[in-house]
Amino acid sequence: MTNHLSYFECHYQPGCFWVLSAEIDVAVQLLLKLKTDYKHLTGQDYKAGCPPPENVVNQDNGAATDGIDEEDNVDPWNVSTSNAKGVDYDKLIVRFGSSKIETELVDRIEKVTGQKPHRFLRRGIFFSHRDMHQVLDAYEKNKSFYLYTGRGPSSEAMHVGHLIPFIFTKWLQDVFDIPLVIQLTDDEKYLWKDLAIEECHRFAVENAKDIIACGFDVNKTFIFSDFDYMGSSPEFYRNVVKIQKHVTYNQVKGIFGFTDSDCIGKISFPAIQAAPSFSNSFPQIFGGRKDVQCLIPCAIDQDPYFRMTRDVAPRIGYPKPALLHSSFFPALQGAQTKMSASDANSSIFLTDTPKQIKNKINKHAFSGGKDTIEEHRKFGGNPDVDVSFMYLTFFLDDDEQLEKIKQDYSSGALLTGELKKILIETLQPMIAQHQERRKQVTEETVKQFMTPRPLNFKL
Ligand code: TRP
Repeated sequence: MTNHLSYFECHYQPGCFWVLSAEIDVAVQLLLKLKTDYKHLTGQDYKAGCPPPENVVNQDNGAATDGIDEEDNVDPWNVSTSNAKGVDYDKLIVRFGSSKIETELVDRIEKVTGQKPHRFLRRGIFFSHRDMHQVLDAYEKNKSFYLYTGRGPSSEAMHVGHLIPFIFTKWLQDVFDIPLVIQLTDDEKYLWKDLAIEECHRFAVENAKDIIACGFDVNKTFIFSDFDYMGSSPEFYRNVVKIQKHVTYNQVKGIFGFTDSDCIGKISFPAIQAAPSFSNSFPQIFGGRKDVQCLIPCAIDQDPYFRMTRDVAPRIGYPKPALLHSSFFPALQGAQTKMSASDANSSIFLTDTPKQIKNKINKHAFSGGKDTIEEHRKFGGNPDVDVSFMYLTFFLDDDEQLEKIKQDYSSGALLTGELKKILIETLQPMIAQHQERRKQVTEETVKQFMTPRPLNFKL
């Protein structure tokens, strides 16, 4: 791939890869090809964000008909690529029909909030969006919005990658001063995994503690387990059924790749993940208003759910949710895949000790360095594929320091062991502080966050 995007390159700084016109040209060409392929296949014009009509193979699913390389595969359950730098995010933007987060949008967020943009925005870690300009237009006219994000509680163990959307959502909550709902899809995990209902529900409560430890404001945040909240809220369930009535089996099959042997719980689940995008699913918060705009920060693999949501929204009289998409957090072994909570060595867990952090990084973090010190000094390392460097782009806030590390590593002045040491010394205190904050989260605190109640905000 010649048009590969270095998504960890700081796009907020001059000289970044994001604004190279050659890349934009390639993306535009791909988009054009996608559109013509689509028209050729369906006889209809391509419309971004709309699932194709029934009886047509869906383009958005990355199915074999999309006319683009088969290198990357992204849906909510599978993420893989054969490219060492990771998934090609420019290609995903084209394929999903979303918009790139350009410097202009980052600048605008800075202007509207009066705050320095979060490093995830400065560095293009949140790289794609839908309708964010519209949200800002409304916000500037004093029309506020709410945030919605979530997590599938598949185990007790969360790793640092799981924190990305929550760290960013916490920042959004602070700078915009708005309410937030967090869905814990214990039902989804029960349907997809070989787990008992009680286990999934327990994982939801345990994960809620790690989420709370990110620092959310209890007066502005409602965290809910689907098993608990769905069963207690008529308004939420009504929305689920409304959505179910307006999406066909053919459509979800196209979007999610369901087959005839998937249980019907899976087939109807997307409606449950869609429902929190509509404000009247939470009458205790929004007093029955159905028109409060929703903004969803999430990893790009969740986009299929929200393409479906945005497609049904106008048909059931609700505003479409806006989205901010993040790239994936790479596994220690390399950027080809997302981290897996079931492989202890693929990631740094929130429960790891300083020693475990050090050992894992030293032993398992894929290196872009050369085989010998002599060669490394002579030719330099490759930060684009180096997982320690990638992790620093996520967690080291100082732009200048990061840039210097990049230059020194590329020139060979900085050795792999030294780079790893910087990462270890960044993560050890960060994880220790997280553990300290999590310890402060009592059962009582969890109950507070998870009780349906009014929140404190002005719309
Ligand atoms: N399906 C998501 C997961 O498995 C959980 C989820 C539910 C979610 N609602 C969401 C994630 C909204 C992001 C935004 O992790």
